[in-house]
Parts: sequence; C-alpha cells; structure tokens
Amino acid sequence: MSATTVQTRTEPATATLKLHSSAEGKQETEYRYSHLLPFFSQDHYPPLTPFEHIDPGHRALNHSNPRSFLDSATQITELTPNLGTEVFGVDLRALDSDGRDQLALEVARRGLLVFRDQQEFIDAGPDFYREWGSHFGRLHIHPTSGHPQNYPEIHLVYRDANSSFNFEIDDSITSTVWHSDVSYELQPPGLTTFFLLSQPSTGGDTLFTSQVSTLKKLSPQFVAFLKTLKAVHSGVEQANFSRSGKRGGIVRREPVENVHPLIRKHPVTGEEALYVNRQFTRRILGLKREESETLLKFLYDHIDKGGDVQARVHWTPNTVVLWDNRVTAHSAIVDYGDSKQRRHGARITPQAERPIPALEDLDLSF
Ligand SMILES: [Fe+2]
Repeated sequence: MSATTVQTRTEPATATLKLHSSAEGKQETEYRYSHLLPFFSQDHYPPLTPFEHIDPGHRALNHSNPRSFLDSATQITELTPNLGTEVFGVDLRALDSDGRDQLALEVARRGLLVFRDQQEFIDAGPDFYREWGSHFGRLHIHPTSGHPQNYPEIHLVYRDANSSFNFEIDDSITSTVWHSDVSYELQPPGLTTFFLLSQPSTGGDTLFTSQVSTLKKLSPQFVAFLKTLKAVHSGVEQANFSRSGKRGGIVRREPVENVHPLIRKHPVTGEEALYVNRQFTRRILGLKREESETLLKFLYDHIDKGGDVQARVHWTPNTVVLWDNRVTAHSAIVDYGDSKQRRHGARITPQAERPIPALEDLDLSF
C-alpha cells in the first residue's frame, strides 16, 4: 500500500484518505498530522489476556502534597462542583513519574481534567504517546478503529467532508450516546488521555457525566438493590458495525462479552459509581427480560437527564483531556457535519482492573 493512502478493505471509494502529491510525485505534508491519519491494517489479534493492574494513583495517596504537580498552574477552574477541572500553565509532557502518579489520583478524584496549551505534548508524537500511556496501565488495542500506521495502541477518531471512521449511529434523532469506552472488555480502561489534532471551528464538543454523582441521586434502598446486580457488556454490535463496511470495515480481534457489576468501586478512591451504558450494556443477569429492559431504560434515562452532574468540554486548539472511565461516562456531539471540517482525535487508553463490585463477593460469573 502506498504511504500516501489509508485504505480499507471494503469501501475503497469512501474510506480512502488521499493525501496531496506534488507534480514531482513527492508527498506533501500540507496537513501537519498526516502521519497520524487512520490506517486500517489487516492484522488479526488474539484474545486479550488478563493481567494485574497496579493503579498509579495508589502511589500518590500517601504523598505529602499529591497536587504538587499543579504548582506551576497559572489558572485552575472547577468546571462543575463535582466533575471536571480546567488547568492552564502545566506542561503535561514535562511531568515525571511522581507527577504522573499524582495526575492519576487527581483524575480519579475529579473524574475529568482539561489541560490547555499542550502543543508540546501533542507534537511529541506516537512513540511518546505510547510511553505516556504505559505509565498508567497496559495499553488497549482497539479491535475495529483506525490507528496511525505502526501504532495500533493509538485509537483514532476521524471525520471529514468525505469520510467518517467513528462508531456513529446515523439513523437516530441524536448523536448523544453516553458510554464508558470499550466496557465490554474484562478489564476496561481507567485513566484515558484524549486530544484533537484537528478540529472544526465550532462544534464537536464532548459531554462528560459523573457516574458517582449519578449514583448518589438514587435512593439508598434502590442503590442497595442495584449493588446485587451484574450486567453483560458486549462488543458484538460495534464489531458488526465494522463488518457491515462502516468505519474501516475491519475487525482485528473477535468481539467479546463480559459481565460487570452495575455498581463498581474505584480501587484508589473507594468511590462507588454506576457502571452501565447504552452503547455496550445489554442485559442484567438474573432478571426476567422485561425487568432487565425496564431497569436499564430507567438508568439510561437517568444518565441522559443528568444535566446537573455533567460537564461539557470545548476543544480549543492544543487541549489535552484526561478522564477516568471507571467513574465517568461521555458522549461525542456530532453537530459539525454540515461544516465539512475535519475532526481528528487521538486516544491513549490504558486498561485497568476488572471492575470491583461495590457489593463484596458479588458473583461475576456468567
Ligand atoms: Fe468514547
């Protein structure tokens, strides 16, 4: 395959990104991040294997000042009382191991951190992205998404005038789909880093919600019942989306289904969070079909309506966002399609522990 194309197996007409070539045939790099455009390799990966996750946030718990990594900040703003902090003046790329541990703890506590003016980080390139993410856990390789060529650990979102390589449902009245990333994995992601390399002039914000706060809205009696429950999370629909020729048309690892508790406990903060999402949760085990459907619908509606526990990130250039997938959910906002402008983002996605049930000894077998 030419180095100047990104080609998919099933939809070459619509899913090929052609970069510009000069009259001499040399590739021009008009787009600053052309080396990070989505590539859909034909590789096939074996199933993921379990591993022991040591959360870096633990190491910061006994630190005398676990927020000293923010000492150079010129401005720190709490986006909402219980979710999200915006930071100016801290160069993430310069954080040492201790600073990264503190960062992990702060993200666990605030759910979402938004760092502005991070061009150094973004321009550090994919080898750095891998090194950065590996500090926080084993890097997840997405089964269906595009990645920069030779860097399968970097998950890309991409949309421009001609192509979309996102997992988007186009026959819905809304693009809002709350989810926690790849929650179908046995050990879903923890601290996640995401940034945009290119963005529309307006639109394409990202919504976040606190699943800790969402849970706290419910009555103690109801929460006690939810703690006894577990649900199936499935990657099948996402894989079928690709198999139907959308996204890049590639499934590099067979989809899995795993069982997680409805309420999980964060390993470092001990906080309890609701852990269901419309995108990947399919059914509650042990309940009758109607009971499961009704209860999940209630919980999804509850998440949908939670404007009082949500935050919205506006992507000014050179913003790097980190969130803890264990205690938050998020949704893309696809409101910029008519502009035909490019939105190109990269995600670094370390896996974490198998979700810890809030109810000790909950049986998580199928
Ligand atoms: Fe996501």
